[in-house]
Amino acid sequence: KVIHVILSGGVGSRLWPVSRKSMPKQYIPMFGEKSLFQLTVERSKSLVNSTLVVGNKDNYLLSQADMMRAGVNEFTEIIESAPRNTAAAIAFAAFASQPDDILLVTPSDHIITNEAAYADAISKAVAMAEQGNLVTFGITPTKPETGYGYIEYSGNEVVSFREKPNENTAKEFINSGSFLWNSGMFCFKAGIYLDELSKFEPAILEKSLRCFEGGVGGLLPETQTMLIPSKSIDYAVMERSEKIKVIQSSFGWSDLGSFESIWEHWESQGEIHRFKDNNCVVGSEKHVEFLGVTNIVLVETSDAILVLAKTSSQDVKKIYERLELEK
Ligand code: GDD
Ligand code: MG
Repeated sequence: KVIHVILSGGVGSRLWPVSRKSMPKQYIPMFGEKSLFQLTVERSKSLVNSTLVVGNKDNYLLSQADMMRAGVNEFTEIIESAPRNTAAAIAFAAFASQPDDILLVTPSDHIITNEAAYADAISKAVAMAEQGNLVTFGITPTKPETGYGYIEYSGNEVVSFREKPNENTAKEFINSGSFLWNSGMFCFKAGIYLDELSKFEPAILEKSLRCFEGGVGGLLPETQTMLIPSKSIDYAVMERSEKIKVIQSSFGWSDLGSFESIWEHWESQGEIHRFKDNNCVVGSEKHVEFLGVTNIVLVETSDAILVLAKTSSQDVKKIYERLELEK
C-alpha cells in the first residue's frame, strides 16, 4: 500500500505579503484556478492508494477544501497544535500507518512540471522503498543555493547527504559535479523510517509517539507537542542513515520558496509577459512602470506593497517576522 503523506506546515513567510498565516502560499490559487496544494494532490492521486495530510490547527480547513477540489473525499488528517518540524511530522504519519506501508512524503507547496517523468520517478522510488531503502529525489542543481540539502551521488547510491551548506561549500559541491539538490520529497516504508529515527533521534521518536497517542480526533495535544525536539528529517535522519538512495529526477522542479525562485520559474517557462522593462517583475492589478532600476520585484495586495531587489528575496522572511512580533 502506498500512502501519499502531504506536509503542510509552513506559512511561506518569504512570500509576504502574498502569503499570510491566514492564507499560506500552498493554498493560494497561484497557477490559474488551482493552488499548489491542489496540484500536489492531483499529481499523485493516481499513483497512490490513499492520502494523509499532516497540517496544523490554523490550516486544516484550507487543506480539507483543497482535497475536495482535487476530488479526494476520503483521507486521513493529522492536526498538529504547533509545528515541531519534519522529523516529527513524518513520524506522526508513520504511526498512523502499518510498518510495511510505503510513505511517499511530499511538501504541499512545490511546483513540478512533466508529470509523466514524475510518475516514472515515483514508481522507481516505490520499488526501491520496497527493498527497505529511504529514497530521495535528486534535482540537477543550477546554482550554489544554500537553502537546500545536497546529495553526493553515484548512480542511485548516496555517498553523503549535506543539509544547507554554507555558500563556499555549496560552490564546491556545484563545481565537483557529483551533487544533486534534495527535492524535499521522500519515499520509504513507515517502519524503516521509524527504525532509523529511533537509532539516531530516540527522543524525537519517543516524544512524538507519546504525543500521537494522546491525540483526539486527529488533533495532537499541545503539552506533549512542546516536548518534542524540533528537527528536520534532513538533519535527524538523512545526514546519518546508510539506507539512503537517490533517484535523479528528470521532472521540472521548483520549491517556489522566494520571489527569486518564482521569477526563475517564470523565466524557465518562457512567461516573459510577467516581466517589465529593465528586468523587473510586477505582481499588481495596477499599471506599474519602472524607471532607472533593474532587478526589482513589486508586489501589491489589497493591504500591502512590497518592493524588493531580486537579490534580497531570502530576507523577506525578516519583514514577516518583524510584523509578527509587532502584532
Ligand atoms: N506538518 C508539518 N509540520 N509540516 C512541516 C513542518 C511541521 O512542523 N515543518 C515543515 N513542514 C513542511 C513545510 O510546509 C514544507 O512543505 C516541508 O515540510 C519542508 O519544510 P521547509 O521548512 O520548507 O524545509 P526547507 O525548505 O528548509 O528544506 C527542505 O526542503 C528543501 C527543498 O525545498 C529540505 O528537505 C532540504 O533538504 C530541501 O533541499
Ligand atoms: Mg521549503
